[in-house]
Amino acid sequence: KSQGIPHYMLEEIEAQPETLAILVQKYGAGFSLPLALRGKLAGIRSVTLLACGSSYHAALVASYWFETLAGLPVQVGLSSEYSDRDVHPDAYDLVVAISQSGETADTIAALKHAQINGSPRTVALSNSPGSTLTTLVDHSLLTHSGAEQSVSATKSLTAQLLMLYVLAFTLGEARGELSKEQVTAAQQEMLDLPTAVAETLQLTKDIRRWAGMLHRKKNLFVIGRNAHYPVAMEGAFKLREVAYQHAVAFPSGELKHGPITLVNEELPVIVCLPWNLQAQKMLDDLKAVRANRGEIFILSNGNIASVEGTSVIRMPNGLNHLSPIIYTVALQMLAYYCAVFSGNDIDAPRNLAKAKTAT
Ligand code: BG6
Repeated sequence: KSQGIPHYMLEEIEAQPETLAILVQKYGAGFSLPLALRGKLAGIRSVTLLACGSSYHAALVASYWFETLAGLPVQVGLSSEYSDRDVHPDAYDLVVAISQSGETADTIAALKHAQINGSPRTVALSNSPGSTLTTLVDHSLLTHSGAEQSVSATKSLTAQLLMLYVLAFTLGEARGELSKEQVTAAQQEMLDLPTAVAETLQLTKDIRRWAGMLHRKKNLFVIGRNAHYPVAMEGAFKLREVAYQHAVAFPSGELKHGPITLVNEELPVIVCLPWNLQAQKMLDDLKAVRANRGEIFILSNGNIASVEGTSVIRMPNGLNHLSPIIYTVALQMLAYYCAVFSGNDIDAPRNLAKAKTAT
């Protein structure tokens, strides 16, 4: 790793404005996916996304984009589960297998399961050119993030998200779902993304301060709504993976249906709260947390006051569909600093491997 940087994970978190800028340059103008792939997209009637771990969370975030931007039904399969299911894919279903390493045995098996059951249209999304996954599909899309040394996925994950957004938009365009203005706005958002990620990285001091308070907590909730719910899942996953904390994610609307029984002064709740149409609903969900003395840590671009029991970090403004990417980066930093405070082996967490090559 570079001199003066203590962990690959930090180096890879900090590389994200650059890794994303590379993709924006490559795909931002005209969503220029390979022509052969573009040709295949027009007749697609549904999308199946298959992945494990962090890549699965990227798939879940992207499922909202495929619905909203491409107007398509989507299913997301957790690879290790999908292979055991009786699946009935349509001949016009597009299967996208997502794996940073391209060597994860569960995802390879899931892809083969889809193919055996009649999925003729397959795409691999990987950070590893020439990996096994890429040899099994019609088309490969690469995330071009450079080698990722830390076991925990950071720059490869945000690159997966951006590529899935490009794919959703290209599908939307090919299917005539999007107006010219929507395409222009989408391109502008892509152009704005690297700067918004760089601005998020500037929040280090505040996020370290949170980590100083949170790293000793045994249990934490991370909550969000819609596309920010899988972001919360990824944040909780990272806290388990590198900080060894028992963090669980919930959609904020679910709190009242069960998890609220666990909230008290010992259980902090971390909240992804982009200032959008669901923001007010989330603020309402949070009333029950305060009523049960749960401490609230809010990431938001909204103007929310840091009142008693609530701490707010102000996120950059200006992103709409791509907002989940910057909240993902903020939560990567939080998990990283919690792990630093706990003195963990951050780049090689106990019991984990970068790629699980056996099912
Ligand atoms: C796990 C890693 O084994 O594999 C996770 O510990 C990773 O960090 C997951 O997200 C999936 O990996 P890949 O290479 O298929 O994206």
